[in-house]
Amino acid sequence: MTQNELKELVGKAAVDFIEDEMIVGLGTGSTVKYMVDFLGKRVQSENLNIIGVPTSDRTAKQARDLGITVKNVDEVDHIDLTIDGADQIDKNFQGIKGGGAAHLWEKIVAINSTKNMWIVDESKMADKLGSFPLPLEVIPYGSTQLFKRLEQKGYQPKFRKDANDEFILTDSKNYVIDLHMGEIKDPFALAKDLDSMTGIVEHGLFLDMVNTVIVGREDGPEILNAR
Ligand code: A5P
Repeated sequence: MTQNELKELVGKAAVDFIEDEMIVGLGTGSTVKYMVDFLGKRVQSENLNIIGVPTSDRTAKQARDLGITVKNVDEVDHIDLTIDGADQIDKNFQGIKGGGAAHLWEKIVAINSTKNMWIVDESKMADKLGSFPLPLEVIPYGSTQLFKRLEQKGYQPKFRKDANDEFILTDSKNYVIDLHMGEIKDPFALAKDLDSMTGIVEHGLFLDMVNTVIVGREDGPEILNAR
């Protein structure tokens, strides 16, 4: 199976966890795109009363176009289940997210959700985090100074830019810096350090956050319960 077929497989498997009347956090990325498509089909064919809480403008548009009712995170009193992708997951179910520059909104939706599920193809599973660069959403003001501080710490930062060498902007109009630091020995210590740095709005370490992971494997979706 191709990577996209594995993404489609887990997207389809995840939708079975959604029940009528649920408020569902809708993640961002190419894997979640499949899931939202399948959800749209279920909403239409089963006339489900679902509210989707999207984690990006992209996902909000896709959901609306498919006829899914969409509400902002501040317009709901709870979120039953959030289904999102991930860039890397280690054997302790800690994750890196933000490859699609959406991790700030994704984390806000995740921490306000009763349950969190990640859907990934098997290439995302790793022993240790870090071979995927760690995204930081940063305030543009002072970001060159912040970049220097990250360099001094040996975090090997790189501004994320597009093909025209323009800064990528998040939905909150911030920049993204990716840390190419290789294996992360202690994700909790790193998270604490990044949390303490002025100018970083949010980092892409999602620690002790996920309840269930669905991994797309050649022989079918594997469901792992994290906590
Ligand atoms: C968005 O910023 C990310 O956190 C995505 O959830 C993550 O990059 C997974 O994306 P794909 O499903 O496209 O690999």
